[in-house]
Amino acid sequence: MCGIVGVTGNDNAVSILLNGLQRLEYRGYDSAGIYVNDQNGEDYLVKEKGRIDDLRKEVSATANVHGTTGIGHTRWATHGEPSVANAHPQVSADGRFYLVHNGVIENFQDLKADYLSNVEFTSQTDTEVIVQLVDRFVTKEGLDTLAAFRKTLSLLGHSSYGFLLMDKEDPDTLYVAKNKSPLLIGVGDGFNVVCSDSLAMLDQTKDFLELHDGEIVVVKPDEIKITNQAGEAVQRDTFHVDIDAAQADKGTYPFYMLKEIDEQPNVMRKLSQVYLNDDGTPVIKADLLDAIKSADRLYIVAAGTSYHAGLVGAKLFESLAGVPTEVHVSSEFAYNQPLLSKKPFFIFLTQSGETADSREVLLNVNEQKFPSLTITNVPNSTLSREATYTLLLHAGPEIAVASTKAYTAQIALQAILAKALGEADNQAAAKDFDVKQQLALVANGMQALVDEKATFEKLAKSALLHTPNAFYIGRGLDYAVSLETSLKLKEISYVQAEGFASGELKHGTIALIEKDTPVIGIITQQKTAGLTRSNLQEVAARGAKTITIVTDALAKSDDTVVLPTVDERMTALLSVVPGQLLAYYTSLNKGLDVDKPRNLAKSVTVE
Ligand code: F6R
Repeated sequence: MCGIVGVTGNDNAVSILLNGLQRLEYRGYDSAGIYVNDQNGEDYLVKEKGRIDDLRKEVSATANVHGTTGIGHTRWATHGEPSVANAHPQVSADGRFYLVHNGVIENFQDLKADYLSNVEFTSQTDTEVIVQLVDRFVTKEGLDTLAAFRKTLSLLGHSSYGFLLMDKEDPDTLYVAKNKSPLLIGVGDGFNVVCSDSLAMLDQTKDFLELHDGEIVVVKPDEIKITNQAGEAVQRDTFHVDIDAAQADKGTYPFYMLKEIDEQPNVMRKLSQVYLNDDGTPVIKADLLDAIKSADRLYIVAAGTSYHAGLVGAKLFESLAGVPTEVHVSSEFAYNQPLLSKKPFFIFLTQSGETADSREVLLNVNEQKFPSLTITNVPNSTLSREATYTLLLHAGPEIAVASTKAYTAQIALQAILAKALGEADNQAAAKDFDVKQQLALVANGMQALVDEKATFEKLAKSALLHTPNAFYIGRGLDYAVSLETSLKLKEISYVQAEGFASGELKHGTIALIEKDTPVIGIITQQKTAGLTRSNLQEVAARGAKTITIVTDALAKSDDTVVLPTVDERMTALLSVVPGQLLAYYTSLNKGLDVDKPRNLAKSVTVE
């Protein structure tokens, strides 16, 4: 949440900042701003409420905005409503210091009271306190900027931050620090950049330096000095990001979400290529398999859509590998850890690798010295670095806020891992399970579904466009997919949608069913198909408009959507696709911004 960028030593600073912010817009989009300095005494601060396009217009309307060094920010409001005053960069009272921030300063009220009672504040943000503190320590206590920045950071307790600070009197320097929030330094040719996510700067450089919590970095056009909390110099090699900037473009698609839904068949094929040999045996490192094999229970920890992928994963680990598996919502687990088994192994599912709720659990897990695996789409992300092991999703950049291809990639990779574990443990179920063939069938099935867009648009228009609410129901794996498809609908179309275990409806929720309430039943599991069909009859008898999403093997002549047949353990990979497309077309036909739904941001780096 919130994206920050910086550049020093480049004549195109303004466009580098604006283009970088545009690529980070998925992290927040309620207001934005830049500060640039040209080293000859001219500087510009431009801020605007709204999107990066609104900021661009404001920059164009402001005379002569130019510079070689600057910082920028796109905001997801935490403290203070979206407004120009609350947009970043925040400025010290004397106009000398400029700061952008991603995170939350937990003790900002105390700091304000303790140090800044005489300062007049112009925003409601926690960030302004930091820039005023730096200014105070420089002007009142005579510290230099770096020492003032260091002193300020020492007062922030457990707060989360990625900071970029500029001092008008030292205008080619970026002062950088991070704790919990992600930040990378990009190494350019004669210039350097800073960003929350490498995607922002891939058109400038592919070589990045990761930063660790507590480090402070001074970045100049030809120099990057990293120091740790004790002030000692830190040497670190760069890593290369092998993503083409074009992969992060929409191409001819109206929205990223549709592009990402369409990419799913290829993501399945890619995972098969990366993690499976030609004969279908999994390619998973032996030390990871050994570590999981020596555990007596798996704990999958995740948030939102990734949690829903974990619910499917748990069934795969139990059925193919015979390992008891629990799935937990990270924000709950972090502060209410259940009693653990004797030898737990943790799996963190996180598309971004940055989710603060999940990271809090990982920090606790590391403290307790339990082994862990992060399954993520982002190499070198925080959770990937801090877990014992990492497996990458290889889904390509996912930009739409509503996750689609990362969800299916998480399920497919868990299926491969479960197969590998089961085989390593001589489990018959795993030996008989041809995951390579299944992923090929899934890829073809997904292709068939995404080729039917017109059908799903028609269905969305007739069943969901004008409804205030909708229910998705299923049992077992179908229940897990009901949770995910209902989340998709609610987050991008603002329809009040809920997923239920279909047997639970009659225990309360059925009271909400009225004439024409859409109830979407997912039926892919032989042993519960009849029961879910009965539950659909019960709501139909009370006026509901029922829609069925059913695998070919279980279909009847009047079913609404028929899914190609795959192994029952893999059906979630197909049954979710109609739900993704229904949500997409409902949102599109309501005229909403599908990729950037209100109040949300993609990478949730606050707890
Ligand atoms: C919804 C969605 C979110 C994320 C959640 C966790 O479409 O994408 O629910 O799944 O915020 O994010 P990650 O997977 O990055 O940890």
